[in-house]
Amino acid sequence: MVTQEFLDRVRCPRCGESMKDLDWEGVACSNDHRFARTAGYLDFSQEAAASGSTEATFASFGYEWNAFADIREEDESFAEIYFRDLDLPGLAGKVGLDAGCGKGRYTRVLSRHLGAEVALDGSVAAEAAARNLAGFENTTVIRSDLRAAPFEPGSFDFISSLGVLHHLDDPRKGFDRLVELLAPGGQILIYLYSRPNHIGLRSSALKMATATRKVTVRLPHKTLKRLSAPIAAGLYGAFVAPGKFGEDHNFPGLAHLPMDAYRGKPLRSLVLDTFDRLSAPVEYRYVWEDLRPWFEEAGLVVDAARDETGWFVLAHKPAAG
Ligand SMILES: C[S@@+](CC[C@H](N)C(=O)[O-])C[C@H]1O[C@@H](n2cnc3c(N)ncnc32)[C@H](O)[C@@H]1O
Ligand SMILES: [Zn+2]
Repeated sequence: MVTQEFLDRVRCPRCGESMKDLDWEGVACSNDHRFARTAGYLDFSQEAAASGSTEATFASFGYEWNAFADIREEDESFAEIYFRDLDLPGLAGKVGLDAGCGKGRYTRVLSRHLGAEVALDGSVAAEAAARNLAGFENTTVIRSDLRAAPFEPGSFDFISSLGVLHHLDDPRKGFDRLVELLAPGGQILIYLYSRPNHIGLRSSALKMATATRKVTVRLPHKTLKRLSAPIAAGLYGAFVAPGKFGEDHNFPGLAHLPMDAYRGKPLRSLVLDTFDRLSAPVEYRYVWEDLRPWFEEAGLVVDAARDETGWFVLAHKPAAG
């Protein structure tokens, strides 16, 4: 759907003019710069010169979200972790942007609460998102690099960017662009990979993953997808299943095993995440001391920040005046 809320905010990336809906063809500005509707999404992907690893990143995620395109039962329980700090009913009537929406599994949850939403992804994941969001009349799906997102500053009351910025060559640049798009009084929810600040099982596991990634990011996506199943099964058998057993039967030694987020979830959720972790060309990881200046220097107020094998940070931009 091309919503009125989208049209009110979108600006032509070439000339800055407002745009009108051409129904099935796409959108155009008064200077007749046209942006096509392709496979259910509006395509602004030609507007940013692909730089550094961006092209490889979009190739990886474009493959991933079309290969694992289905919306799954467990997505709802993962969503509860993502949105725990957020007042979802408080989003009523607001206009949101999900920057880096992937296949739209969490956009769907937000769209149920928001007045209107824009789901944006730089890769052909936008195609899977458009299918998964087809029933949401308040949601417009676009393909665009978030750093070149075609909107007026201050356009959105709520911005989410979940598992995205750590895949950019310049995560801070992406963050600053999102802050620019946030309206005064608006809220932003970010999820970013964390790194432990002490030596232990998790830091050893991360070191191993980093070493493995040196090889796997170079593999053809299809090959890596095939490999992800046995690797995930090994991890499930070594950590997830014994951890669940320890939790259920009160064995603290086992209950403290890592990967607790997958306990009680189907193996397929770990297969998807294994592919995700081993395929994305770039990943940064943060401790809070790295991130605090992002929010402070952008003039945001942090409302909640927790590290649950990744940083969930909810912040707001103070209202003007
Ligand atoms: C790990 S996925 C997360 C998808 C979704 N937020 C979720 O949690 O299911 C990261 C997504 O960010 C997108 N992405 C990465 N860099 C981007 C950029 N510069 N502009 C727009 N999207 C980007 C990728 O294409 C990918 O779909
Ligand atoms: Zn134009």
